[in-house]
Amino acid sequence: MQRNRFCLTVFLSLISAFTFTSLSFAGHLEPFKAVPVPKNNLQTPEKIELGKKLFFDRRLSGDGTMSCASCHIPELAYTDGQDISLNYPTTKNWRNSPTLMNVAFYQHLFHDGRVKTLEDQALFPMMSAFEMNQNLDFLEEEIRVVPEYAEAFQKVFGGEPTRERIAMAIAAFERTLVSVNAPYDRFVKGDKTVLTEDARKGYELFSGKGRCADCHAGMNFSDDKFYALNVPENPVLLNDPRVTATMRFVAKVYHYKDYRNLKEDPGRYLITKNKKDWKAFRTPTLREIAKTGPYMHNGVLNTLDEVIDFFNAGGGKGNRVLKPLGLNDEEKKQLKTFLVETLTGEELKITYPEVP
Ligand code: HEC
Ligand code: HEC
Repeated sequence: MQRNRFCLTVFLSLISAFTFTSLSFAGHLEPFKAVPVPKNNLQTPEKIELGKKLFFDRRLSGDGTMSCASCHIPELAYTDGQDISLNYPTTKNWRNSPTLMNVAFYQHLFHDGRVKTLEDQALFPMMSAFEMNQNLDFLEEEIRVVPEYAEAFQKVFGGEPTRERIAMAIAAFERTLVSVNAPYDRFVKGDKTVLTEDARKGYELFSGKGRCADCHAGMNFSDDKFYALNVPENPVLLNDPRVTATMRFVAKVYHYKDYRNLKEDPGRYLITKNKKDWKAFRTPTLREIAKTGPYMHNGVLNTLDEVIDFFNAGGGKGNRVLKPLGLNDEEKKQLKTFLVETLTGEELKITYPEVP
């Protein structure tokens, strides 16, 4: 399987090298790659199935109201459709719930890249006071007393349920959430009829005049790097005291000294304390982008038109990364057509698991 995938990748690379030269785009055409899987958490059908059950299991939250799927809804490409994500009852979240489609391709997870592996990531929302608010010692016992889980963990891991194994199973499930066979992928494979005229022109703008591919690079449309585009704050950050409290709580956890006076999201600065990372966020994938609005780390841009206007204007106030693009209405429309028509993969049919 692994070797077949490798051959396929080489084969597709050759094809793309060919289409690249033959279509003379300034683009970044890159063929589909296989999901990277860590050696210490290999994929097996039983592990994936167990992870899926846990992903949909509300036991993972303190009061039994929230599962991972509460904020990562399969039908919304594993987002929750809100600007600021949902929350543990009586609290408020402060950032937008990102898509989990193609999440396995990132080297940095979360908007600020604070975690490197899906195995590490999964424990965060469970423990987070404003997401699932669960005590992990308690969760382990809750899972251990369910015979079906005890048996499944024994079979998959050769031992009993632990927080690490819970996270490993969930990570294995997340590695199956891959956007496949989008029109873009068929185009890269050489099917030149698959893009409409507008989408094709939009692609030229994406990788040319619009400079989008500078950052939304490669087959996952993300360079996995961080940029301070100075996206405007979502007004609820200061208008809703519960959102403000969440922001300041996170800043406190990350040892931000003056957290009580914090009035904006410091982005990656919270993690690195490096000035250049002030308000910087990771470039997100654009796969499934038609389904994942509202957009940006705080959902402050409602539509792709607003996103394109944002970039066309040279980004947010005072940023040093972007320059105005001078796209006219026709070009903006073509760029949007490319995003909407070509980056949505085949419907991932999800059968909801029966949670024991
Ligand atoms: C209450 C809503 C909520 C719940 C419940 C929740 N998440 Fe999330 N998830 C979010 C938000 C919001 C973010 C972004 C947070 C940030 O970047 O600071 C996120 C980020 C992520 C990311 C990183 C995505 C990326 O692009 O880097 C992964 C992976 C993820 N969640 C998986 C899970 C898993 C697994 C669970 C269950 C154990 C879960 N989430 C439960 C809201 C939620
Ligand atoms: C300098 C790097 C860079 C360039 C150039 C760039 N982007 Fe982005 N893009 C980002 C970053 C970083 C974010 C996340 C910002 C945030 O969350 O606050 C983003 C966010 C987005 C989003 C929202 C994704 C989501 O899930 O919320 C879309 C859509 C998008 N960009 C499209 C474009 C288009 C179209 C262009 C070209 C006109 C472009 N980008 C140019 C770095 C870039």
